[in-house]
Amino acid sequence: MKIMKKRAVLSIAVMTLLTTFLILSCSGEKKEEAKANTATQNASTEKKEVNPMDNKGIGPIKNVTLGEIDPGRAAKGKEIFQAKCSACHKETKKYIGPAPQGVLTRRSPEWIMNMILNPEEMVKNDDIAKKLFEEFMYVPMANQSLTEDEARSVLEYFRTL
Ligand code: HEC
Repeated sequence: MKIMKKRAVLSIAVMTLLTTFLILSCSGEKKEEAKANTATQNASTEKKEVNPMDNKGIGPIKNVTLGEIDPGRAAKGKEIFQAKCSACHKETKKYIGPAPQGVLTRRSPEWIMNMILNPEEMVKNDDIAKKLFEEFMYVPMANQSLTEDEARSVLEYFRTL
């Protein structure tokens, strides 16, 4: 009789433990699921926010249409680049600022020209430029007071890199 009682108590204890364990692990799973769901949601909203090629930046340039590369304009752009930009930019290597090579695959042409013509406002209010500014240790991109036409020539030169 005594042994029977002991066994009953033991099995009740074991059952309680098992049930608790089951409930706990189930709620844990749900939490993981919920976490996974918010992660996917975040990823999709992030994707929407940062399609860099849709960002035209902030400044005077609203629309640039790129045709075939104009070699004369690109040559003029190269001269301007060497005189006014090469202190901080090297064509193919990260230097004080990023390398212009391949920049047209990362940024829209309008964004690039606005960054050249209006860097002060860009690093303050444009999402991509703000991040770059942080990445480059808060060294500001200098406004070299180019005209829109000169900035367009530099853009043409960047297309040849
Ligand atoms: C004083 C140094 C300096 C000079 C001079 C300078 N830049 Fe910059 N540039 C930077 C830095 C640093 C950045 C990164 C953003 C920041 O920190 O503001 C940058 C960013 C850029 C970007 C964005 C690149 C990318 O990958 O998104 C372009 C385009 C650019 N510069 C073009 C030019 C052109 C064209 C000139 C010449 C007219 C020029 N820069 C002159 C320092 C400079």
